[in-house]
Amino acid sequence: VALARAAAAAAQDLEGLAAAMAAYEQCDLKKGARNLVFSDGNPKARVMVIGEAPGRDEDLQGKPFVGRAGQLLDRMFFHIGLGRADPAAERALYITNVLPWRPPQNRDPEAQEVAMMLPFLERHVELADPDILVLMGNHSCGALLGRKGITRLRGHWVEALGRPALPMFHPAYLLRNPHAKRDAWHDLLMLQARLRGG
Ligand code: URA
Repeated sequence: VALARAAAAAAQDLEGLAAAMAAYEQCDLKKGARNLVFSDGNPKARVMVIGEAPGRDEDLQGKPFVGRAGQLLDRMFFHIGLGRADPAAERALYITNVLPWRPPQNRDPEAQEVAMMLPFLERHVELADPDILVLMGNHSCGALLGRKGITRLRGHWVEALGRPALPMFHPAYLLRNPHAKRDAWHDLLMLQARLRGG
């Protein structure tokens, strides 16, 4: 973790951070992954979404949230006028994950992997400097809030890394539990109100 902290701190911009992560050899996940999945979207976006870890499609393409869960994520944010391709910071999204490499067989991240990679995520948030964080799912909450329990956390503003943060159900969870979409839509409207200054 000390090595990760030093490498992350030395990065002066997002490109430098991506390069530092690509060169970081201490995390075993890297060995089993095809690609580093750093980010997607507009780095100037007011909203930064933090997911869990790449899955199969993300590992192949080197981009976060490009599989089925990602398609749902795009639809969710489209609903409130936000899109990762939008050039305007107010309508854009910037997207990353707690872990930049796919865990084998999409298993859950291990606490030690999250702890090792956390300095990179913290620096990522610092350099992108969004107004608001969206914590997608339990692992994102665990990493940045130090607690899980998304069912209770969602629907409330919290603070993460000194910024307002909204825990939300992960779109992969929503695909398995469509009844929870109602809550997710509620949370999207909370986010929209906050962006509008409400
Ligand atoms: N799930 C995530 O948490 N992140 C991705 O990039 C894809 C699926």
